Amino acid sequence: MLGPSSFLRPGPPPAAEGFELPCIAELGAMAWRGFGQGWHERNGGNASYRLTALEAAWVREACPAGPWEPLGALAPGVGGELFLVSATGSCFHAMEGDLAPLLGIVEVDGEGLAWRHRWGFSDGGRPTSEFTGHLLIHQARMAATDGAARVIYHAHPTSVVALSKLLPLNPRTFTRALWKAMTESVMVFPEGLGVVGCLVPGSLELARASAEQMRRFPAVIWASHGLLASGEGFDDAFGRMHAIVKAADIHLAARTANGGSDRFPNELPDATLRAIAEGLGLQLNEAFLGGEGA
Ligand code: 13P
Ligand code: ZN
Repeated sequence: MLGPSSFLRPGPPPAAEGFELPCIAELGAMAWRGFGQGWHERNGGNASYRLTALEAAWVREACPAGPWEPLGALAPGVGGELFLVSATGSCFHAMEGDLAPLLGIVEVDGEGLAWRHRWGFSDGGRPTSEFTGHLLIHQARMAATDGAARVIYHAHPTSVVALSKLLPLNPRTFTRALWKAMTESVMVFPEGLGVVGCLVPGSLELARASAEQMRRFPAVIWASHGLLASGEGFDDAFGRMHAIVKAADIHLAARTANGGSDRFPNELPDATLRAIAEGLGLQLNEAFLGGEGA
């Protein structure tokens, strides 16, 4: 269980009496649930949340600003925004009680060139090593969702990483395999899934490649590394991660039971994927339908 509400209002006293930042406890709870799923060995994984205008105004008022530090890349689309973000090296298995050492709130300058500290990182920590990637991905998802997406969540789920060692590393192959794993998949990622090859964690190359994919997709697989999912809120992002992991689990379980082959006797045909989407009024990504193995 997360601790008392004292850590919801860390640092200086609030400007507006009674105002709280529930996002701090919510991000902690998401991380804790992800650890429970086995997705966060050691310091594996990270998360960020873009504050609402009301939350940002309160933090600007109540929390003193640190010095500006350059960002790894230009991110004008998130200029002026504030983000709650996990600290680099923070262990999600420790995401309980006082979250101020494990999380921080940072402000991006108006041009998207620099960031500064506003709250948290109380043990002298800094934002996740994937922070530049998170900002570029926030920028991409804001554009893709008309500003609705607020959460970016990265984890290291075993089955997704294992699958990235078996399938060709392209969005069409992964999307089709996981759409066909279970009927729920088309509801969770009708746009499909992005895939990037094995790139250096925390690198600008990984950040840019991921953001490019996230302009089109709500989640991206990092080969031999993990998965990154976006959402409007914490439950949305966690739920998307959970459903993708479940689909990967099913694909691998069926494949193992099928002697290693992905030619399943009862494969879900494209016609059924279309029928599910039509029944629910969803727009499936046509580029991933039809063709070989349909
Ligand atoms: P951080 O501890 O810097 O967030 O790194 C964890 C991780 O999963 C990198 O991809
Ligand atoms: Zn990682």
